[in-house]
Amino acid sequence: MRNMSSASPSSPGVISAYRARIAAGSITFDPAQGSVAERLQDLWGKLRGYNPYPKKPPNGWVGRLLHRKQVDDMQDHPNGLYIVGDVGRGKSMLMDLFFEAADVPRKKRIHFHEFMQDAHRRFHAIKRDNPNIADPIPALADMIAEEASLLCFDEFQVHDIVDAMILGRLFEALFARLVVVVATSNTLPDDLYKGKPGRDAFLPFISLIKKNLDVLVLDSERDYRRERLHGMSCWYVPANTRADEALDVIFRELTAGLPPKTESILVTGRTLAVPLAVGHTARFDFHALCGMPLGPGDYLALATHYHNILIDGIPRLSPDNFDEARRFVTLIDALYEHRVKLYASAAAWPDDLYRSGEGSKIFERTASRLEEMQSEEYLKLPHLT
Ligand SMILES: Nc1ncnc2c1ncn2[C@@H]1O[C@H](COP(=O)(O)OP(=O)(O)O)[C@@H](O)[C@H]1O
Ligand SMILES: [Mg+2]
Repeated sequence: MRNMSSASPSSPGVISAYRARIAAGSITFDPAQGSVAERLQDLWGKLRGYNPYPKKPPNGWVGRLLHRKQVDDMQDHPNGLYIVGDVGRGKSMLMDLFFEAADVPRKKRIHFHEFMQDAHRRFHAIKRDNPNIADPIPALADMIAEEASLLCFDEFQVHDIVDAMILGRLFEALFARLVVVVATSNTLPDDLYKGKPGRDAFLPFISLIKKNLDVLVLDSERDYRRERLHGMSCWYVPANTRADEALDVIFRELTAGLPPKTESILVTGRTLAVPLAVGHTARFDFHALCGMPLGPGDYLALATHYHNILIDGIPRLSPDNFDEARRFVTLIDALYEHRVKLYASAAAWPDDLYRSGEGSKIFERTASRLEEMQSEEYLKLPHLT
């Protein structure tokens, strides 16, 4: 790999940071990651000290004219990168190495979903504070571009029409303000928002992304996340503090140690609160999931949105808590159908969870699914949205 031998761990840049991780023994060298690191290194070099002139036009026509001239004189921004690959290939790790190394005074790394939620919030706040404004997008883009001239998005994905509608114009305005974007994603740009209503109107956004970001496929052969979790059990009995700690470790592994937060996801007609989530991973207490009046629609929404779900404290089930048991069966069906990976602490192993009484027969299928969901074969299956 270029520079691999010359870059010392203390020299700045992405390759040396990658090499330092290898030297420290926390990761092993992967050629596919090496090539992506080289492209990130190139961009790192182009962005040294990158601090495009703040884009907010000053007041007064002279100021505005000067501003226009300065913007026109400004060379175009370097292309960003769109790193795409299957889960666990090291996309986020590489982007984080790049982000930390980037010598850019105004930079921001954010989960894409969070960025969009924030963008919608600000969009509406601008409209509320300026009732006569014809189009809030330029003001929104000014705000974002003032905060960061380098935006790193983890898990770039377009889920709904509301996002799809503002994305094109927002990103056009951001690129015009010389913002450079680096993103990780599971989806090639051409496959974004595929098969969804209103896709045609979304196509210009895809072209815009391909024009401003170079697409890199990280096709490493190994799923490092899976390997790190290998040998860790999915099911912990009993649900004591040791089980808690084991689930803490799994949650951290699945979320790369990013701080968890409360999220809400959209279920037909309302939002569903998720107490602890990062990206594709969420953690719940059994009672928050099955002790509440949730239905199949809620469980399906969870199963399509999250790839990994952790449940703390599954109790023994019986005719005494039949409502909870019934919801649990529905939940597991949804998780199983969408190939969600389940990690749980419970009062008993799946076969013993619902031992006798009315309903125990129905539970046999759930118990068998729960067994299967712990198998290496199941754990290797990709999530289905
Ligand atoms: N070359 C490697 N050797 C060992 N572990 C790695 C390597 N690359 C990534 N990992 C680890 O694998 C896990 C998944 O990596 P991550 O960057 O989150 O993957 P992705 O974003 O592609 O899903 C992380 O814990 C990461 O530190
Ligand atoms: Mg990732």
